[in-house]
Amino acid sequence: MLDAGDLLLVVMRWAHGLATIVWLGGGAYATLIQGRELRQLDDLDVAARLGRTTGAAFGRWVNAAIVVFIVSGVILTFDRLASRGATVGYGVTLALKVALALWMFGLAGGLGRRRRRAPSGPFAGMRRALGSPVALLWLGGIVVLLAAILKTLYESALRSG
Ligand code: HEM
Repeated sequence: MLDAGDLLLVVMRWAHGLATIVWLGGGAYATLIQGRELRQLDDLDVAARLGRTTGAAFGRWVNAAIVVFIVSGVILTFDRLASRGATVGYGVTLALKVALALWMFGLAGGLGRRRRRAPSGPFAGMRRALGSPVALLWLGGIVVLLAAILKTLYESALRSG
């Protein structure tokens, strides 16, 4: 039977999973489908207006997802680190996952506010690519991969312990 602590973990996993779907599903649609279609439109004004309004609306969902990631992620972290399944390898992988997640939050904030000036200088192309919506999607994919590795590391430590 699940106790209150277990139920809290179920809700946190559910919230963490939903935030992932909103972020990566919404981001993939906006970047790979809507963005490409908007760039094909002949009417540049309409394309720019649609891009701005849908971008602002999606930005509000992304901000909500960030709050959910942080609250649920901190609770999942406490739960995992309190267990003997949390090895040194688990801790290092989790630290990498959190660092990449924070980088994603920073990139999303920069894209949303559009306050970044276009990068210039010798590494401008590389900096533009690293701060792009497609880079954000790749980062998300890597963070989900690290989550799968964490789960496997945790279960394997419990089995062998
Ligand atoms: C402050 C940020 C975050 C923290 C502290 C955090 C922490 C965690 C922890 C501790 C777990 C449990 C891992 C395990 O099974 O042992 C987890 C799972 C997971 N995280 Fe995160 N996370 C954060 C952000 C993100 C982001 C940005 C994404 C997606 C882009 C993400 C996607 C996932 C997924 C898909 C799981 C697997 C859920 C499950 O199997 O129940 N996380 N996270």
